[in-house]
Amino acid sequence: MKIKNICCIGAGYVGGPTMAVIAQKCPEIDVTVVDINEKRIAAWNDEDVENIPVYEPGLPEVVKEARGKNLFFSTEVDAAIDKADMIFISVNTPTKTYGIGKGMAADLKWIELCARQIARVAKNDKIVVEKSTLPVRTAAALKDILDNTGNGVKYQILSNPEFLAEGTAIQDLKKPDRVLIGGDVETSEGKEAMEALVNIYASWVPRENILTTNVWSSELSKLTANAFLAQRVSSINAMSELCEKTGADVNEVAKAVGMDSRIGAKFLKSSVGFGGSCFQKDILNLVYIAKSFGLKEVADYWEQVIIMNDHQKRRFAANIVKTLYNTVSGKKIAVLGWAFKKDTNDTRESAAIYVADYLLNEHAEIVVYDPTVKEEQVYADLDYLNTRSSEENRSKVTVVKDAYVACEEAHAVAVLTEWDEFKELDWQTVYRNMLKPAFLFDGRRLLDRKTKEEVGFEYYAIGN
Ligand code: UDX
Ligand code: ADP
Repeated sequence: MKIKNICCIGAGYVGGPTMAVIAQKCPEIDVTVVDINEKRIAAWNDEDVENIPVYEPGLPEVVKEARGKNLFFSTEVDAAIDKADMIFISVNTPTKTYGIGKGMAADLKWIELCARQIARVAKNDKIVVEKSTLPVRTAAALKDILDNTGNGVKYQILSNPEFLAEGTAIQDLKKPDRVLIGGDVETSEGKEAMEALVNIYASWVPRENILTTNVWSSELSKLTANAFLAQRVSSINAMSELCEKTGADVNEVAKAVGMDSRIGAKFLKSSVGFGGSCFQKDILNLVYIAKSFGLKEVADYWEQVIIMNDHQKRRFAANIVKTLYNTVSGKKIAVLGWAFKKDTNDTRESAAIYVADYLLNEHAEIVVYDPTVKEEQVYADLDYLNTRSSEENRSKVTVVKDAYVACEEAHAVAVLTEWDEFKELDWQTVYRNMLKPAFLFDGRRLLDRKTKEEVGFEYYAIGN
């Protein structure tokens, strides 16, 4: 089976970059990315590719090359579904904020809406690929809806979890460690559908790096991979607190530990806490699934990764208050970095949101600077927490477009995202314009202690 037309529902951080790379690597396939968010689609179609809604190094170039040739962005969801042989579902699956499983289970509302829409529109057989991170056994639910509400057409459901990390998405997509495809391995139709997707990736990924499994293994592998990665960060963050108490340096510990080839050096960077759209959500999912099977110990084991992460964000903020003579009331604190990591404009679950929220509860005044995050996003993130009114967030938080302006007259600066440009700041100027003593809290171990202390800062860093 040769795929000629692909439709991707959801033009977000996953759907956008993934489809752009598929279109670039497979010029013979037409790829249409659809979304109900008109503003987002308009931004993807902006003449100036620098204005696309997802900030991702290398992405504008890929979009520029393929857009209008075989890559299209549209709000016409039905038309794209109708035309496609293969439909990727790449919509958001946030943690439920209501009802059963509140705060834990994934909200599958948008997935179900997609399934019903596909079922309503489709007039010929389709391969449906789940790309969003989903709890195990979602494919079964998808199949159920499609088979029972459809127009009698046949569906094959594949699971093809995304392993790209934001900030390095293009590199991850072009040279993935592996591509995972789950499908119905019991039937010839299932195998044929899997082969069709394997063939797409095989245009640029070596065959031996494309794994095929049954659907459940594929779905669970995604949750497991993210849980393992997040667990490494929580493990090193747990040690960071012990380092601060004992005089050890967490960077030295991480280096020594990571040189053991059984452990490996990656993902051992201590920080103010992990963020992003996946780690917390996926672990909560895992915990919820384990609980629902009565596996209390399994659930508790993974939940501890989240508990440690929450603790890390809270203790970083609490240390700011303590160091500033136990009060930040009325004090100006400059927050450098709002994104959950560098090289992205994504702020979902960013540690900065929680640190700022804590400091606002202590009546601090916050000034935020981030190179890619827009003012409206900062307010939306704080409003989403529902801790205080949106007017209050706007009166206590200012968002500026310049790091130096953010730090002017500040009592303290907190570095919360590891943007390269923060390393290059003229810290002498920053120091000169701050109130004294000038406190600098490095939540990313980004800066060099010696030079900052020479400038005159009271410097505090995670794990040191
Ligand atoms: C993650 C997975 O890496 C990816 O495979 C999956 O598809 C989606 O989830 P992402 O959330 O984009 O990707 O970013 P990632 O690089 O994993 O970072 C997640 C968070 O952990 C960030 O806040 C990052 O700053 C933090 N982190 C990461 C650390 O604090 N220390 C580290 O050593 C690594
Ligand atoms: P991710 O990081 O998983 O890509 P995003 O939130 O960035 O998540 O993107 C998901 C996109 O899916 C959003 O732009 C949202 O508007 C879109 N979306 C959600 N439900 C639907 C739907 N039923 N039809 C079309 N698009 C949808």
